[in-house]
Amino acid sequence: WLTADLNIGQKLNEGKTKQIFELADQPGLVLVQSKDQITAGNAVRKDQMEGKAAIANKTTCCVFKLLQESGIKTAFVKQHSETAFIAARCEMIPIEWVCRRVATGSFLKRNPGVKEGYRFTPLKMEMFFKDDANNDPQWSEEQLLAAKFSLAGLAIGQCEVDVMNRSTVAIFEILEKAWATQNCTLVDMKIEFGVNVKTAEIVLADVIDNDSWRLWPAGDRSQQKDKQVYRDLKEVTPEAMQMVKRNFEWVSERVQLLLEPQASGRVVVLMGSTSDMAHCEKIKKACTSYGLPCILRVTSAHKGPDETLRIKAEYEGDGVPTIFVAVAGRSNGLGPVMSGNTAYPVINCPPLTPDWGAQDIWSSLRLPSGLGCSTILSPDAAAQFAAQIVGLSNHLVWCKLRASMLNTWVSLKLADQKLQACSL
Ligand SMILES: Nc1ncnc2c1ncn2[C@@H]1O[C@H](COP(=O)(O)OP(=O)(O)OP(=O)(O)O)[C@@H](O)[C@H]1O
Ligand SMILES: *[C@@H]1O[C@H](CO)[C@@H](O)[C@H](O)[C@H]1NC(C)=O
Ligand SMILES: *[C@@H]1O[C@H](CO)[C@@H](O)[C@H](O)[C@H]1NC(C)=O
Ligand SMILES: *[C@@H]1O[C@H](CO)[C@@H](O)[C@H](O)[C@H]1NC(C)=O
Ligand SMILES: *[C@@H]1O[C@H](CO)[C@@H](O)[C@H](O)[C@H]1NC(C)=O
Ligand SMILES: [Mg+2]
Repeated sequence: WLTADLNIGQKLNEGKTKQIFELADQPGLVLVQSKDQITAGNAVRKDQMEGKAAIANKTTCCVFKLLQESGIKTAFVKQHSETAFIAARCEMIPIEWVCRRVATGSFLKRNPGVKEGYRFTPLKMEMFFKDDANNDPQWSEEQLLAAKFSLAGLAIGQCEVDVMNRSTVAIFEILEKAWATQNCTLVDMKIEFGVNVKTAEIVLADVIDNDSWRLWPAGDRSQQKDKQVYRDLKEVTPEAMQMVKRNFEWVSERVQLLLEPQASGRVVVLMGSTSDMAHCEKIKKACTSYGLPCILRVTSAHKGPDETLRIKAEYEGDGVPTIFVAVAGRSNGLGPVMSGNTAYPVINCPPLTPDWGAQDIWSSLRLPSGLGCSTILSPDAAAQFAAQIVGLSNHLVWCKLRASMLNTWVSLKLADQKLQACSL
């Protein structure tokens, strides 16, 4: 229904690179339309570049899709056309959050002595107040607090600043991990947050395109594919603009690949009997939340060991990296037998009962030599651990784990803030 003819209303805002339109039938949403214009040095240089808007829109759409699917809260709703997308209407917080992995550019000027290429671990955070007239001055956290911004009814205090700071780090790490699959180093990135006018939540807003980051293929500055190429042009010739455009196209070709899994992986849950089905369904549900396929099978290592080993061979035989989860009550022979007969990881997740649980657990913990299975009691945690193993080679799964960690942190922060407000 969103792509059906939009009732495009009033223009709410127009900047250097895009226009924002009201959607008459959907007051909480806006249309973000990119312009075919590239700017540098605060619009001192302005050149039209045909097709730029379309490439920028594709970059933004792919990047926001990746973040959204990972579980990061963003304003992005969906693509609308070649050059426009629909987003939640936000009141923008006038701060550019900059996150750096590698020192380069303006950081070197502001921090003389630091060599280009210095690697920040942890990531270096900076913020800049969006104020064209004063060339976007760098701000401290204290300055941001002193400004006492209030947007869409939300006062920007310590909690909100911490949430934006933490979110920026998570967003950077997710994009860094995604670009690494293309042998590309995410050097630095700048983003903006807005307050969703409907939910009063802080969300990643505006856009992320190659205007927003530096990318060095194979970590090599000389092959950079970002807007810096345009800033560095000595003379704007048609040939030079073609090169800038080719670089943008290089990014837009690859940005789509960020959404594709680079490695497969799956979880196979083996249960001793269908009486453990509810426990196994919990594992499956949690696996699915990480985008991890999960297959349930019934087999008993005590009563049908030949069948257990045959099922094992089935999943070893098709080349898909597999994590086995053994769910067996009472004596867990299943996990240890699997572990002794496969090089794939095995997680014991026994459904313990109150009566004999304390004794039964030892059948999962105390193993013959040469076995390496782990034991995790909670079905959610077993799935999470399996996702962490798959996440080592599958960035989409890793990104979901990373976003989930951020969201847990934010929920705790908000719960505490609410509690403090109530007890005043
Ligand atoms: N989801 C959104 N809801 C409301 N406004 C938005 C949204 N996304 C972006 N905007 C705003 O739209 C305006 C136009 O964007 P554009 O990037 O072209 O502006 P700009 O010239 O770069 O100025 P700025 O320095 O504010 O970014 C900006 O003020 C931006 O903050
Ligand atoms: C990179 O950013 C530029 C400048 O905003 C944009 O025009 C271009 O479309 C982007 N390139 C890609 C591939 O998204
Ligand atoms: C821009 O977004 C639209 C939204 O549907 C998308 O279909 C299109 O592919 C994007 N533009 C380009 C050049 O890919
Ligand atoms: C972000 O958080 C880090 C870690 O708590 C802190 O050192 C840094 O000063 C913060 N950055 C900004 C710009 O607020
Ligand atoms: C990345 O680099 C490795 C090693 O040089 C190479 O094998 C691989 O094909 C490259 N991947 C991409 C997507 O370019
Ligand atoms: Mg802008």
